[in-house]
Amino acid sequence: MITTEENEAWTRVGRDTPGGEMLRRYWWPVTFGSLVQGKRPKKVRLLGEDFVVFRDGRGRLGMIEPNCAHRRAPMEYGRVEEDGIRCCYHGWKFDTAGKCLETPCEEPDSNLKDRVAMKAYPVQEVAGLVFAYIGDSPAPLLPKYDLLVHEANATRYVYGNANNCNWLQTAENAADATHINWLHAGPYPMSAAKRPKIEFDQREYGLDCTTLVPGMENDKCSSLIFPCHNRFASARTEQGSARQNMIFRVPEDDDKTLNFFITLVPRTDGKFVHKSETPPERKDKGPWVENTRFVYAPGDEDWWGVTSTDQDRMVLEGQGLIYDRSTETLAASDRGVAMYRRMLKESLASVAEGRDPRGIVRDPEKNGLVEFGTRLFTLTRELQVESA
Ligand code: FES
Ligand SMILES: [Fe+2]
Repeated sequence: MITTEENEAWTRVGRDTPGGEMLRRYWWPVTFGSLVQGKRPKKVRLLGEDFVVFRDGRGRLGMIEPNCAHRRAPMEYGRVEEDGIRCCYHGWKFDTAGKCLETPCEEPDSNLKDRVAMKAYPVQEVAGLVFAYIGDSPAPLLPKYDLLVHEANATRYVYGNANNCNWLQTAENAADATHINWLHAGPYPMSAAKRPKIEFDQREYGLDCTTLVPGMENDKCSSLIFPCHNRFASARTEQGSARQNMIFRVPEDDDKTLNFFITLVPRTDGKFVHKSETPPERKDKGPWVENTRFVYAPGDEDWWGVTSTDQDRMVLEGQGLIYDRSTETLAASDRGVAMYRRMLKESLASVAEGRDPRGIVRDPEKNGLVEFGTRLFTLTRELQVESA
C-alpha cells in the first residue's frame, strides 16, 4: 500500500522535493518553436517555476529567469532584438546566455553591465519543440527518440494540450494497458471489452506494454518512456489512417501537466511535411488547445459519452488534482502500474544517493537512435502501412 507520505514524495514537482529533484535531471519541452518568433518573448512554466523564452534576431534561442536583474520587472514584456532581450522598465539588455549587454540609464563609462547577469538555461529546438534543462550542470544529452529525428514519408503534426492534474497520474496511465479495452472501447472496437493478455518488459528507457487481444492478428505495443512520456501507434476509428505518436508529459506544476504531441501520419510520396498544429480531424487548428477541467467534448455515445481524445483526461482529472494512492485497490492486472512504481522508487533513491535516475544519457557514444516496438507502420524510407 502507498502511504500518504510516499504519495507526497512521488508527486510534488517543486525544487527541493524528492520528485522535483528527480524530474530536474531531464530535458523537457516547454513550448513550440513556432511560438517563439519576432519581438515578443514567451513566458513558460516548468516544474513550478516561471521562465521567459526568446529567439534573438540571429536565431539563437534563450531561456532566462522571469524577472530582470535590475529591479525585477517582468521580462515577458521585454522586446527581442538582434542580439538579446531588452527589459521594458529601464531598457537593460541581456543575451541568450544571460550576459548583460547594456544598462542605458547609467553613465557611458559605467562598467556595471560587466558585473550583472541573469540566470540562463540550456535550450534546444528539436522537431518543432523547444526543450529546456533547468537542473544542475552539466546537462545530460537529449535522447534521440525515433520521432524526434525521423523526417521522411510522413506529415508531422506537433501540438499540445493540458491535463489539469498531477504528472504521475498521466505517467501511470501509460503503464495501465488494460484501460484501452474499456475506456477506449469506442475508438478501438476490435478490442472493446475483451480481456487482453499483456506482457510488460522493462527497458532502459522505461516500460514496454505489449497487448494481445483474442481474435486480433497484430499485437499492440505501447512504451512508457521514464519518467512519464508515451510512445504508441494508433489507428482510432475517427482518424482514417495509422499513426505513430509520442506524447511528452510535462509537469508544469503540482496540479497541471502539459502534453506535447508528435504525431506522424504516413505519406506514400516520400516527402516530409512539418505542421505545428493539430491533426486534420480535430477542430482546433493552432498548436495549442486549451482545456477546461471537467469539461469534455461529447461523443462515443455507445460507451462513456465523451469523445475519444478527451477520455484519458476525463479519468485522470477525475482522480483528483493530486491522486491519493493510499485509498486505491491495486489488482493483479495492474502489474504495469506496479512495475512503473518500482522504477520510480529506484530512480528517486538514485537521485537521493547522488546518481542519475533512469534514462539519463551523458555519453554521446551511447546516445543512439531509440526505437520502439510499435507495429502499425515502420519508419523506413520504404514506408509500409501495415494496418489502416
Ligand atoms: S527593471 Fe529591468 S531595466 Fe530596470
Ligand atoms: Fe488512454
